[in-house]
Amino acid sequence: MRKTLSDIGSMKARGEKITMLTAYDASMSRLLAGCDVDMLLVGDSLGMVMLGYDSTVPVTMEEMLHHAKAVRRGAPESFIVGDLPYGAYQTGSRDAINNAIRFLKEADCDAVKLEGGLNMCGIVKALVEAGIPVMAHIGLTPQTASQLGGYKVQGRGIEDAKRLLVEAKGLEKAGAFAIVLECVPDTLAKVVSASLTMPTVGIGAGADCDGQVLVTHDLLGLFDKFTPKFVKKYANLAPTIKDSIRQYGAEVKEGVYPAAEHTFTSETDYDSLLEEEKSV
Ligand code: KIV
Repeated sequence: MRKTLSDIGSMKARGEKITMLTAYDASMSRLLAGCDVDMLLVGDSLGMVMLGYDSTVPVTMEEMLHHAKAVRRGAPESFIVGDLPYGAYQTGSRDAINNAIRFLKEADCDAVKLEGGLNMCGIVKALVEAGIPVMAHIGLTPQTASQLGGYKVQGRGIEDAKRLLVEAKGLEKAGAFAIVLECVPDTLAKVVSASLTMPTVGIGAGADCDGQVLVTHDLLGLFDKFTPKFVKKYANLAPTIKDSIRQYGAEVKEGVYPAAEHTFTSETDYDSLLEEEKSV
């Protein structure tokens, strides 16, 4: 059965850690759903992981929807969060609501996520008033990383830390049901988590968040361009994939693949067809 917002909220209340992982296609979402991951995030990280962009900035709403629909097809019972891409909500509540509704209506998402602090409280409020569950995202916000001085840990100094805490509380007051804390010191994430009723979902934010999120391709060792410090690789599939592809190539060239067990046979004598072809 699909989780509800109150299921997610009550996990924090009873101290059960929440798991969230990214998914961008039906085969992966099927696998994740089969492993009882609490929430699937169709993250705009798909721009870098799947589409080969250098950042998340170029990702469009159409690209997000295309992938979100596939994720839903693979995981009909999962709680799915659609990540609003850059440009889909910064232009105002009306655009934010229209784009968020597209995630809910066209891709059957359960919630949307957006990046930003106090500047986004009005938009979060408008979305929630329109009936759209919102997950907030503060700390390192990749869509505006250049304004933050690059992909850096946020909130190290006390003033920045205070600002992050104020932002988290403001977003909760605006109606967000959960918040991603990305790349903040673990002790700060602990204070933020303890100050909120809504769950915090950390990525590079230590063990005291109410849940954790990772990019699935990082966890599996499938994305080998770079690996952030906070990633634990539970598998290293890139070399395994490369070995398999090389072996396939070699076996095709050597005539080892396909073997008898991969081949369809028939009693019919087709050689006569060849004779007919030759006589034309
Ligand atoms: O786009 C994404 O994958 C994300 C997570 C890293 C939280 O926003």
